[in-house]
Amino acid sequence: MTQQRNLLVEAQAALQAGNAGEAQRLCRAAIAADGDSGDARAILGASALLARDAVSAEAEFRAELRLRPHAAQGYLNLGRALGALSRTGEAADSFLRATQLSPNHPEAHFFLGVAQRKQGRTDGAAISFDRVIALVPHAVPAHQNLIEVMREAGRPADALACARRAIQLCPAEPEFLRVFSELAADFQFSQADDDLRGILARALGHPSVQPVVVGAAALSAVAADPSVAALLAKAGTVETWPADAVEDAMERLGGNGLLLRLLGMIPLCDPAFERLLTGLRRRILMGDVGRDTPSGLTFAAALAAQCFINEYVFAETEDENGRIEALIADHRPKDPWTLVIVAAYRPLHRLDLDWPLSAAASSLGDLIRLQVDEPAQELNLRDSIPALTGVHDTVSVAVRSQYETNPYPRWVRPSVAPSRGSVDAAVKAMSGGVHSGQATTNGRTEVLVAGCGTGQQSIWAATSYDGAAVLAIDLSLSSLAYALRQTRAHGIENIEYAQADILNLGDLARRFDVIECGGVLHHLGDPLAGWRALVPLLKPGGLMKIALYSEAARAGEVAAQALIKQRGYSSSAQDIRRFRQDILSLPTDHPAASIANATDFYSTSACRDQVFHVQEHRFSIPRIQAALKELGLTFCGFYFLEAGVMAEFGRRFPNDPGMLSLENWRQLEAEHPSAFRQMYQFGVLKPL
Ligand SMILES: C[S@@+](CC[C@H](N)C(=O)[O-])C[C@H]1O[C@@H](n2cnc3c(N)ncnc32)[C@H](O)[C@@H]1O
Repeated sequence: MTQQRNLLVEAQAALQAGNAGEAQRLCRAAIAADGDSGDARAILGASALLARDAVSAEAEFRAELRLRPHAAQGYLNLGRALGALSRTGEAADSFLRATQLSPNHPEAHFFLGVAQRKQGRTDGAAISFDRVIALVPHAVPAHQNLIEVMREAGRPADALACARRAIQLCPAEPEFLRVFSELAADFQFSQADDDLRGILARALGHPSVQPVVVGAAALSAVAADPSVAALLAKAGTVETWPADAVEDAMERLGGNGLLLRLLGMIPLCDPAFERLLTGLRRRILMGDVGRDTPSGLTFAAALAAQCFINEYVFAETEDENGRIEALIADHRPKDPWTLVIVAAYRPLHRLDLDWPLSAAASSLGDLIRLQVDEPAQELNLRDSIPALTGVHDTVSVAVRSQYETNPYPRWVRPSVAPSRGSVDAAVKAMSGGVHSGQATTNGRTEVLVAGCGTGQQSIWAATSYDGAAVLAIDLSLSSLAYALRQTRAHGIENIEYAQADILNLGDLARRFDVIECGGVLHHLGDPLAGWRALVPLLKPGGLMKIALYSEAARAGEVAAQALIKQRGYSSSAQDIRRFRQDILSLPTDHPAASIANATDFYSTSACRDQVFHVQEHRFSIPRIQAALKELGLTFCGFYFLEAGVMAEFGRRFPNDPGMLSLENWRQLEAEHPSAFRQMYQFGVLKPL
């Protein structure tokens, strides 16, 4: 027996070293020496699994279980062998037997959960993963699976609760914060405690979370605070509040960490908050209210940051305008309080200040960085951006002019992709594994971002693909300078920016593995001419990612455009402000009222992009199909679809698991016209 034990110790060591053949040889020698044993069969089975021979593994584990029928680990291993043979039902039975024999065996519960999930038994799977978490609270894969199970079962609120628990129990795993943010995107909290507010504040700072994605959920958590809710309820009457009520409101808001963070990061997309902040700003300016309160300056500075970020989209009356112009006209140095008031109405970099800001810098450093230093840097950077082509097309000239005045989108903090991957992996993820993408050469992925705007998309692309080398072009130098400043500030070195018109890129000698063109082609005079110009720049087998407006999803915007025409609004900042107030006062069933539900409604450039654009085309799925046919491109899937839309597609078209039939998508959109309100965002492949 000693000889057998020694041989099995050596076999186990060989198995752990990854040498399946040697482990098997030693086990056979042990059996020959001293007869059959459960240990020998267990090692033989594990070696067979290692050698990817699931058939032999099954036989060995069954032999083990004949020798020791109560071995939980034996059933667990048998389940793994059966799973590898795609006999999921039998595998689940075997894992279940393991959990019955050893109720506190986390692995057995985990594998049972995985098998149940594969069988679509979501309730059972949820119980199994829950059991793992009860036994090992920081079991990351169990949390991940449980969240996915809840998503697959169409239970987003439960998925969100599971993600929240995962954040609490696995504090070293930042990925859960990202998953939480993704799930929170469609969520409004009606209750919030400090823990939830803390999670949301951290999510806003997560490198792979776009603050705007989690912004609405975070704002709902702020509004769930009863003292904030009370202010929002009477936001329409701030004008009549006594001064001490205004000061009290400023104190409360100035002491709310999550709100301050939001104010300095993204436009607040909520009419009630807008009313409250517009009213408080007016009271601060007209009545000098709040100057001497402890949090007054903090709140007013955050409000000024918000106004800069939303590009002064809040309504402004004649008397406010007169007052602010008088303050500006007075060229004497201003104390920090007065400077902040001005900054809440006009960007400081536009003011002709003939005195240094250094006195205010210590208390208002962030505001001066935002409103003075960064715009100055952009101005300096403009000249360093090369022009790759001229811009002659009449529509391109008009579009450039719009984005020179109103670069879009404005953003404060970049988000980077959570991990890099190959083009092939991106295509497979998009097409449910049906299509493959280009194998990149020398580990380098050449990417063109055509119409990169202010750089959010180019930064994401530069951090998404293995060895990405990005050329990002746009018509607008203001947008490019904004993008370049942000890219440098965040130490990203693999993006080259240049001014160019997509229509004139034909002479470019470079060829790309990936071309991304999001929210751009529908702003060309002839979208297909632009698309046609991009196709030769894509390598055979390359991936092109396109985003286009949907006619069906933009019914609200079309109604708003009709209103703009009818009431004669221009696209000046002042008219955009007036128009927005008109929209906010429409009855909720007015066809144009829905545009206030879009984040774009809440800043000047974005609102101009949303409904005041100089050129806009809208697409339908048949129109996209016709374009793909003409251009010889193959559809490989939609991306960034809302979870609800994907779940609905799965229910309606169970025989299209790759979600690749455009005809099915056409039907889905006919039934759910707002399915593509985030545009048609899809990938196409150029055939090899
Ligand atoms: C709505 S923005 C989208 C920006 C960016 N793709 C994003 O998703 O963040 C549209 C951008 O396309 C650019 N654009 C429009 N027509 C273009 C053309 N013919 N050539 C290059 N850029 C163009 C505009 O200047 C603008 O910055």
